[in-house]
Amino acid sequence: MKNKKKQSGKPTEGMLDYNKNSSAQLQLVRLLSPLVRELVHSMDPQGIEFKIVDYGCGPGINSIEMVKPVIEACLEKFSDTPIVVCHSDQVGNDWNTLFELVSGPDGYVQIAKGIRTEAAIGSFYDQVTSPESVSLGTCIFASHWLSQAIQLDSAGTVWFADLQSDARRIVDRIAQRDWTQFLLQRALEIRAGGYLVVGTLGSVPDTSEKNGIAASGRGIYRAIYVVAQTMADEGLISSESLETFLFSLWFMTADEARHAIVKNTKLAAAYEICRISVEPAPIKTNDIFEDYIEVPGTYAQKYVGYIRAFGDSTLRTHLFGPNCGSSELLDTLMAEFYNRLTHLYEVETNKYACEVWHLVVVLRRK
Ligand SMILES: C[S@@+](CC[C@H](N)C(=O)[O-])C[C@H]1O[C@@H](n2cnc3c(N)ncnc32)[C@H](O)[C@@H]1O
Repeated sequence: MKNKKKQSGKPTEGMLDYNKNSSAQLQLVRLLSPLVRELVHSMDPQGIEFKIVDYGCGPGINSIEMVKPVIEACLEKFSDTPIVVCHSDQVGNDWNTLFELVSGPDGYVQIAKGIRTEAAIGSFYDQVTSPESVSLGTCIFASHWLSQAIQLDSAGTVWFADLQSDARRIVDRIAQRDWTQFLLQRALEIRAGGYLVVGTLGSVPDTSEKNGIAASGRGIYRAIYVVAQTMADEGLISSESLETFLFSLWFMTADEARHAIVKNTKLAAAYEICRISVEPAPIKTNDIFEDYIEVPGTYAQKYVGYIRAFGDSTLRTHLFGPNCGSSELLDTLMAEFYNRLTHLYEVETNKYACEVWHLVVVLRRK
């Protein structure tokens, strides 16, 4: 078995049409609004400034919607304390778009005078901001991306939840190590009494699944595999490239999220666990695009738009790119893939629907 890991590029760089295709993320942001307000209201005065950091902020409106309730609660509770909002992501994020939105009509700079905005550029698996400077950190739909691209023998699947034996154990170890590392870095940055709120996709126990868990989005990743397999069967891509391609993702169960914290002495000492839960998304739990099911063409477009938004750069770089000698060929291959994916969703509709379970982790820095 060939199990080699490869560090190459950032798995989520270059997300496409982000605002249009990130309604699932926005749903979680809205769900967390009352929670972050409550957290701010429960906090003691924060010293010279109240700093909010949104880790893995992305290019779009969701980061703004995530920090708005924190800003509002902060103005209510600590009216004299200067507010600093720091958006943190990787270098390839579309920073221009984000900062246009920050000061645009739906941005937050209008809420009050003197809100200072910053960007912290780098991986959240490293330290990205000053020690003990953060009052409230958020991280939405981002921490499930692992620290490295992974290439290993993954025949029959493109994602973690269907991996078997050694391959699964290898990726499981990487995921646990990454989650631990993410939390250790935040423990350095969050000041005593501050909070970290992580909201992302989760998994739940399910004995009918091969690894005993049902993971969010299982339909989507299976659809991607089915389509890529047809392309391998017809010789458009090599079977080897498909059999070694994997999205570098891991959607944790609540037990996995908790395990890393309680078994690591530094983390156990740093954080009080306020909440770790995985729950079905309150709306559109079984199909994020159920509103469009009666119109298969639109339904298919929504799914393909969503998949392109988070997956295009990973698919280009790690699955289709190695099969092409030129960027023109790569574009043609990508177009072929999306056409086939559209057809699959038009014909099979909700067989490959995206179900969502939200993992929410709330930690208080001791
Ligand atoms: C699906 S987007 C979510 C964006 C935003 N939080 C939202 O809710 O819409 C995932 C984001 O995580 C970022 N990301 C992934 N891995 C990261 C890492 N190691 N460090 C910093 N950001 C990362 C990506 O660049 C991307 O912007």
